[in-house]
Amino acid sequence: MSTIGLIAADLALALLCAVGWLGAAITATMGPTIGRSRAARLIVAGAGAVTLARIGVVVLLAGRGWWFVQEKVTFALPLLGLTASVAVGVLLWRGVAAARVPLWAAGFTAATVLLLSFFTGYPVSMTQALISISLIGAATVTAWRMTSGARIGRFVAPIAAVGLAGVALGAIPAQQVDAGVAHNHPIRTRVETSPEPGGEVRRYALEAKRATVTLASGTRTEMWTFDGGSPGPEITAVQGDLLEVTLTNVDIESGVTLHWHGYDVPNSEDGAPGVTQEAVKPGGTHVYRFVARQVGTYWYHTHQVSSEGVRKGLFGLLVVKPRSSVAETDLTLPIHTFDGTVALGSNDKVWQENAPEPGSPVRLRVVNTDSTPHRLALAGTAFRVAAADGDDLHEPGEVREVALRLAAGGRYDLTFSMPRGGVAFLVDDDPARAALHLGDRGAAKTSAETSAETSAWPELDLLSYGTPTATPFGAGSRFDRDFTMVLDRGIAMVDGRPMYAQTVNGLGHPNIPVQTVREGELVRFTVVNRSLETHPWHLHGHRVLVLSKDGRPVTGSPLWLDTFDVRPGELWRVAFRAANPGMWMNHCHNLGHADEGMAMHLMYQD
Ligand code: C2O
Ligand code: CU
Repeated sequence: MSTIGLIAADLALALLCAVGWLGAAITATMGPTIGRSRAARLIVAGAGAVTLARIGVVVLLAGRGWWFVQEKVTFALPLLGLTASVAVGVLLWRGVAAARVPLWAAGFTAATVLLLSFFTGYPVSMTQALISISLIGAATVTAWRMTSGARIGRFVAPIAAVGLAGVALGAIPAQQVDAGVAHNHPIRTRVETSPEPGGEVRRYALEAKRATVTLASGTRTEMWTFDGGSPGPEITAVQGDLLEVTLTNVDIESGVTLHWHGYDVPNSEDGAPGVTQEAVKPGGTHVYRFVARQVGTYWYHTHQVSSEGVRKGLFGLLVVKPRSSVAETDLTLPIHTFDGTVALGSNDKVWQENAPEPGSPVRLRVVNTDSTPHRLALAGTAFRVAAADGDDLHEPGEVREVALRLAAGGRYDLTFSMPRGGVAFLVDDDPARAALHLGDRGAAKTSAETSAETSAWPELDLLSYGTPTATPFGAGSRFDRDFTMVLDRGIAMVDGRPMYAQTVNGLGHPNIPVQTVREGELVRFTVVNRSLETHPWHLHGHRVLVLSKDGRPVTGSPLWLDTFDVRPGELWRVAFRAANPGMWMNHCHNLGHADEGMAMHLMYQD
């Protein structure tokens, strides 16, 4: 069974446990007549069986990693096991009537444990344990007093006292770790002011402003743009050039920055508001300078209230070519959802391009600027995934009739030589969505026929694609630092407010402890997703080498990514060399999740 299957089974059984034990308590309380005690015994037997089944599932889940079960093994199940065994014991030896109160205790425990599954998680804290126990105690005392026929009024005071104690405990802040990061630590960072020998200085000026953008279908949308368009102007350079980009904010009230996604710029140029600079307010200007060392497909986007800013259009592409490059048909395909409409660039319907000469090389640079993954398909030709997240793969083999899954924020370069017939590129196998047609694919097949064909294709597994080659470090290396990030949902403080947050190790931004490294160290991340949502993980300023997924090592080309998609139940191990000093954001690139707490920092100490 898959890990996410076990997580789902555990939740379902937790629900059944609560229903079962509470049902047994209610039945037992309704009166120990012959019929009812038999019913109570039956329900107890059922609840017991469900509890044992849940223990079995948790044992299996523990095999997938301790992070999936920590709070269940150390707290929830021992407590439920204890109250349930007492209830069963009393029932067997003293009968249904005597077992009423212990059954209520088991019922309240099962209910509390169910709530814990949804609202807290890894790791369970002493506070949460104490609150849970006091709530169960208070509820059981209430049930006992009510079933023994006493007047409820007399017990309001003691119960209120227990409840208040619980609330007081809950008010103790989970952990006061102040990120307060940026301003208290002077950051030593690289400064780059001239191109590499032979390179040139490329100057761009971008104006952030509101504008009405007209998509290819004629739909007009109010957007936040760079220079009046979305995507903004494409920034291009040749390897070794110095990029100098002047950002001016015309009228974006909440402020703007430029973050160079996937580009390992000097820390001061990273565009992380509150960390490397203040957001540029209307009327303000900021200049970014860095040498274009990495070749490949990247993108830039605002990082100020980024979930809103990027969704509304503040992004564009950054493409860096090698000094000597072959002539090829080179198209950039940023995928973005504008108000529910998926577009490739500004094409929200079929984008028809004339066919290049048969046999000539074609490169499609696909960029996912949304917060959720997309499925890509290229019909009518065999192709190679030449690069992932800007980095060339090693000996990528030719594939056909496979789909690709592109993480939020991620990029693939697809290359092929133009066949005689037409080629169609589809997003999410949806004929109604944006698509690119090179040449006359339409004559051979309608888009509906193409999508019926591609939706059956399996997904290419990048972990076994291409061939291995030497890397500066690997799974067997000795790591100087090892950080574990357990991703989940739960109640946590986010920017000073309690909310049902997207958490890392049970905490939300800015209370997630800063990860500290020293320059030169080899760092390993273990990222575990206990939640039911996908988390595209993104560390600024570094690309990471994927070591393994769910314990399965990479067997194909080395995979250097800046955004890796951690799906529900998955466990990724990645590593990087700490070689770019500064204070870096480390967050989920589902930007809504980052807003809801799933953002932290990695800091170099001197
Ligand atoms: Cu593309 Cu911090 O983000
Ligand atoms: Cu996320």
